[in-house]
Amino acid sequence: MADVAKKAQELLKEPDDNLIVLSGCGTSGRLAFLLASSFNNLLKGQSKKASYCYTIAGGDKALMTSQELPEDNPELGIEMLEKISQGKKKVLFIGISCGLSAPFVAGQLDLCINKLDKFTPVLVGFNPVNMARSDNIEGWHSTFQQVAERIQKLHDLHKGYIINPAIGPEAIAGSSRMKGGSTTKILLETILLTAHKAVSDNSSITDRCLLDMLKSYEQVHKNIYSHSTKIATLVKHAGASLQKNSHIYYIGWKSLGIIGIIDASECVPTFGADSSHVRGFVNNGFEEMANNNGDLSSLGPEFAISHEYFLKTVLPTIQENDTVVFIFTLDDDLKEIEKIAWQVKASTTNLYAMWHSTTEHQVPQQLEEIFSVAINVTWPKLLSEDQGSYIQRFQYELSTKWVLNAISTGAHVLKGKVYYNHMIDLRVSNSKLFGRALSLLQKFTGQSKSKCFEALLQSIYETDELNEEIKNVEISKHIQWAATMNKVVPTAVVTLIRNCSVSEAKTRLASCPIVRDAINACMTGSGLKRTAEQRETDEKEPGE
Ligand code: F6P
Repeated sequence: MADVAKKAQELLKEPDDNLIVLSGCGTSGRLAFLLASSFNNLLKGQSKKASYCYTIAGGDKALMTSQELPEDNPELGIEMLEKISQGKKKVLFIGISCGLSAPFVAGQLDLCINKLDKFTPVLVGFNPVNMARSDNIEGWHSTFQQVAERIQKLHDLHKGYIINPAIGPEAIAGSSRMKGGSTTKILLETILLTAHKAVSDNSSITDRCLLDMLKSYEQVHKNIYSHSTKIATLVKHAGASLQKNSHIYYIGWKSLGIIGIIDASECVPTFGADSSHVRGFVNNGFEEMANNNGDLSSLGPEFAISHEYFLKTVLPTIQENDTVVFIFTLDDDLKEIEKIAWQVKASTTNLYAMWHSTTEHQVPQQLEEIFSVAINVTWPKLLSEDQGSYIQRFQYELSTKWVLNAISTGAHVLKGKVYYNHMIDLRVSNSKLFGRALSLLQKFTGQSKSKCFEALLQSIYETDELNEEIKNVEISKHIQWAATMNKVVPTAVVTLIRNCSVSEAKTRLASCPIVRDAINACMTGSGLKRTAEQRETDEKEPGE
């Protein structure tokens, strides 16, 4: 971390010639965007030139909607990185892939390795290199693991870096948006803010500065989880909404609104949710986002993210079963918040809030009273120093992320979208998720890989007869089709357990709206449930 901070410090001194690029797919790309915006704002506040850029697989559309397929394309990553770094002398490239797996990022790292006179590659993720993804990348020359091994060699020469601490398993297997995303945020904020401070103070970067900042996040953790009873209440209500096929809406201000949008967008690939189930809105919409491509709202309703849109189009549809969560700080326009809250309250009493206050300033009582449950996170006095206020904003964002991740994940668990800590109803929308679907089938049915592969294709194409032609096309073609389908994995699980047709499996699932219960019922009927439980226990690592 200290080495990377020193590199950033060096580059920040010559903003005309240099650039810091943050990049990733899905939530990793969204966090890259958020970090790049925050640090450019910090520079702007000091009347300095913007030094950061972001790239995200799928482009700006992926900031608020799930665009999984471009994640598989290394060439696309290379193209984007070449374009934004044109004309720059030195580029610090920070590629984020929590699972050390995204081909889009692998392509970009490979470009950097081949042009070390210009690029310093940094890989951020949370797997040891020997557990990086080793599958072939369709149409490309290396695997992610091979690229990671090459970066590791550069590490010792101080020409490239890997930051990949072990952070333990995710609560939902593969849901790297949670722990992985939060740790990405903590690590990169610590590194970059330390670099900015060193540039401003003309001081050196030491391990102590990094450690002090990391430790401040420990306090954030303590502070937010002291509200766990209220967080649990929100999870319960949000879960009840999803169980009734109703919605969860986050109405947020400034970057906390963006955290809401990020949380909502991930529910689609993770839980196979519809994009309307969990949605986020931010004040001033795209103006607040300040993303590369500006206003995308004309692309369709799922790209409408402003409060204005919420009030005009969503509010009239809100019903008692919907859950609405307001997220703000005391710096936001409390009068406006109160006004919107009253408007929402006319349609649902499921109105909640999470706000950040200080020991000196609290939210007015008449605002507090509008909400059924409010999480009031109180922080010590505001730090006035420029970088201090950024630390505080980062802490607000992280604690909000933790709460919203708990709400959306917990609500989907209650909706029955999780089976033994696995996202059983994920959307099979890229090669990683295709691989994950296949291993879930093997795990839960005990059948061979080839049998599970066939069942997966049968479910994707809704047929019991697979011709050789279909079986032999590239995985990317299957994914294109699968990405448009619902309940692909549950259907395949049921066909395998019951040894039944795809249409029978679909009928069984349709008769029980809770996917986990439907699968459980099939498992029990076939005597397989104990096997799944047993396998889960057998596979647990000590301490997991
Ligand atoms: O493709 C789906 C997904 O798992 C997202 O849920 C996640 O945010 C993204 O991939 C990125 O994953 P990683 O950071 O491991 O590359």
